Amino acid sequence: MTTNHYYDRDVVSIRDFTRDELEFLFNFTDKISNFSRTERSELGKGRTLGSIYYEPSTRTRMSFEAAISSIGGSSIGITDPKSSSIEKGESLSDTVRIMDLYSDVLVLRHPLDGSGRFASELSTNPVINAGSGSEEHPTQAMLDLYTIYKEKGKIDGLRIGIIGDLKYGRTIYSLVYGLANYNVDIRLISPPTLSIRKESIYGMERKLKIHEYSELPEDILSTLDVIYVTRIQRERFPDIQEYEKVKGTYTIDQTTLDKSKTDVSIMHPLPRLDEISHSIDSTNNATYFRQAANGKEIRAALLALITNEDLV
Ligand code: CP
Repeated sequence: MTTNHYYDRDVVSIRDFTRDELEFLFNFTDKISNFSRTERSELGKGRTLGSIYYEPSTRTRMSFEAAISSIGGSSIGITDPKSSSIEKGESLSDTVRIMDLYSDVLVLRHPLDGSGRFASELSTNPVINAGSGSEEHPTQAMLDLYTIYKEKGKIDGLRIGIIGDLKYGRTIYSLVYGLANYNVDIRLISPPTLSIRKESIYGMERKLKIHEYSELPEDILSTLDVIYVTRIQRERFPDIQEYEKVKGTYTIDQTTLDKSKTDVSIMHPLPRLDEISHSIDSTNNATYFRQAANGKEIRAALLALITNEDLV
């Protein structure tokens, strides 16, 4: 019998999950996506999701709330620190301890690297890292890998371009760590000042083929199966003048598509600013809204697995 390795488990870093475990999640997501509403609503019955957001969120927060609701559970949460006792000076550790008393699973988004691991050490219930500084956003990578697998039918053998703010974008670190489970060719494109943090991918070159560019050469663009675009993370720049120098560096538009494979998948964790032209939203290449929809399904499956030992 297959074991549910997600039961009662923290999701702090995608590096804590093996390829088999990720694929178990993808298969379980496919399975419950075909469940009736009634079958689904049994998976999380009586379970409470507790959220603590120290930073704004649309997709992560809403998809977790929609996910727990779709499996029959409920949610409580701090969605704005100003409307909670954090505003009075309550510490992260006390906030986590208190929310742990009222919830079966905790979701935390916080501006500091290491915050997810810190919370997981304090909480008796599982903690899901919903974004820790510039460090990681593991459930985003789970839904990103699931999206690639659904769109392309495989992950092995693909050539994937990742473009934008590779220094501060936490989603791309989790994505690269997740892709290290596969045989993929990764092309990283960023302004030199926003290149990937070498210390954070130390050792990855043994598992992945990685090449870096400041401009994307057309002969490479025409070979990419996936172009994963990220926003320049204004809020993480220590000096706003540095942001002004690099904002708007890249735009994916119809001209990009004309030079790309006809079936290239354009992905983005969202929100976007000007890095993907709205003019391509209606093309089949625009994968980002399907990707966001997959977020609810992956998170529903994850919550069901974390809170039910017997699910397989
Ligand atoms: N992709 C993502 O994390 O979006 P939000 O910041 O809106 O949650």
